[in-house]
Amino acid sequence: MFETKTRILKVGTAKLHYALIPWDSDSLNNTTVEIEFFSAKNVATLNKLLMHLQRTLHLKKGDLLFSKIPPKDFSKIQLLDQVGFYYIEQTITLDIDLSGWNPDEFVFSRGDGYRLILAGLSDKKLIRKIAGSTFIADRFHLDPNIAKAGANYRFEKWIDNSFQSTDIVYKFVDDKNLIIGFFIVNEHPDYAEFRLAGLDPKYVGRGLGKMLYHCMYRLLEDKGCTLIKSVISLNNLQVLNVYMYLGHAKFISPFIVLHKVL
Ligand SMILES: CC(C)(COP(=O)(O)OP(=O)(O)OC[C@H]1O[C@@H](n2cnc3c(N)ncnc32)[C@H](O)[C@@H]1OP(=O)(O)O)[C@@H](O)C(=O)NCCC(=O)NCCS
Repeated sequence: MFETKTRILKVGTAKLHYALIPWDSDSLNNTTVEIEFFSAKNVATLNKLLMHLQRTLHLKKGDLLFSKIPPKDFSKIQLLDQVGFYYIEQTITLDIDLSGWNPDEFVFSRGDGYRLILAGLSDKKLIRKIAGSTFIADRFHLDPNIAKAGANYRFEKWIDNSFQSTDIVYKFVDDKNLIIGFFIVNEHPDYAEFRLAGLDPKYVGRGLGKMLYHCMYRLLEDKGCTLIKSVISLNNLQVLNVYMYLGHAKFISPFIVLHKVL
């Protein structure tokens, strides 16, 4: 469901690889395109490739082009900047090694009433509401050229799609069984991938985020999982601090993400 198809476009010998992102296009009500690779070495050639792309896809005002470039490819970042792309975030991948992680090292004042439980379709509405209101530090909310309503709706749609995919959706409930957060994970045979998590904004900033992630680590550890992978934005200081607190994480694969809204 979350797979894209790379297409290739050429101007002379210069090439541009791109992929349409249908789920973002649906949510943002535009055409969202990822520029996956380009061979252009100067502004004129890159502009020609982008014009060709614009004509091929009939792109219009409000459509979003984005690209993820390793920071070491500075000349590519500079070229994208010169044709109107702008920096929006840096992402990194966290590799969390659960093999030496001890859940009992952490003490939470609120006790055992808070739990992560498998979510069912009857929980979708509430989880959707939380997801549609809690994100603020992602690249869609930070981009002043993207409407906040579209950025919120994108996370609501993400919840709908997760319930129809192989991802596992958990609800985070308090001691009165009220849903106050959620966690979405893809469990592969040799690692678990954190896809999306969040707390109801009413409960953010009280130490419950640390408890939410602790519950998830513990649940996976109980299942015999020893490796977690998660891509996060360096703009998201809340989640970075949660990961720092729980420890055992190695930072790898940095990417600079650039946007251009037409
Ligand atoms: C990520 C999230 C679950 C964390 O929950 P939380 O309630 O903020 O987390 P906690 O209060 O347990 O801990 C957050 C830590 O970050 C710190 N922090 C919060 N905002 C910060 C900021 N702007 N700058 C620096 N540190 C910050 C807090 O002080 C706290 O550390 P401390 O306990 O040592 O003081 C919650 O913020 C959330 O739902 N965010 C929106 C969704 C999201 O971004 N999800 C993660 C990516 S999928």
